[in-house]
Amino acid sequence: MNLAKVMTFGAAALALSLAPALAQSRKDPRQTNIEQRQAFFKLVGLYYGPLNAMNKGDIEYNAEVAAASAANLALMVQLDTSKLWLAGADRSYSEASLTLPKAFEDAGAIDKGLGDMASAVAALAPVAGSGLDPMKAAFAGVGGACKACHDSYRFKE
Ligand code: HEC
Repeated sequence: MNLAKVMTFGAAALALSLAPALAQSRKDPRQTNIEQRQAFFKLVGLYYGPLNAMNKGDIEYNAEVAAASAANLALMVQLDTSKLWLAGADRSYSEASLTLPKAFEDAGAIDKGLGDMASAVAALAPVAGSGLDPMKAAFAGVGGACKACHDSYRFKE
């Protein structure tokens, strides 16, 4: 191989090795952040669902299911969710997001909302499996924490 060929080969190999990195970086970090935030709340919703249905009487109370759902919610609220709120990753950037820009403008609002949710879930977890009435009493606090944040910071479709 002469020098020109070696250099051409080198440039082609470099371009190939960079291709996956470039493909990845084409995705706007705000888009990824919105998807990650939604993924978190989808999982929260997965464990919230059965408790909510029992609370409303849509399904029969089941102590095991209630306790397991609340235990999983309790794990979810322990995650470090600070990285889920990248500045600008809201509805002003993409309509795929239901997060209102106000969520970023009101200092401390998200932390407070998530903190309230974590406290309510911590109160629910130990009693969720102890019967319908204690579950419902504690669940009200959890539902209230979800609703408070959604009412202020989630776009209503
Ligand atoms: C601190 C504010 C806050 C709290 C607390 C909160 N949410 Fe949300 N939630 C949001 C925001 C903002 C969105 C919109 C996310 C987006 O689209 O960018 C959302 C979206 C969701 C979604 C839709 C996810 C999707 O995209 O499919 C579900 C389900 C959900 N929340 C459930 C809950 C439940 C259940 C609770 C309480 C246990 C809760 N949330 C507590 C702010 C909150």
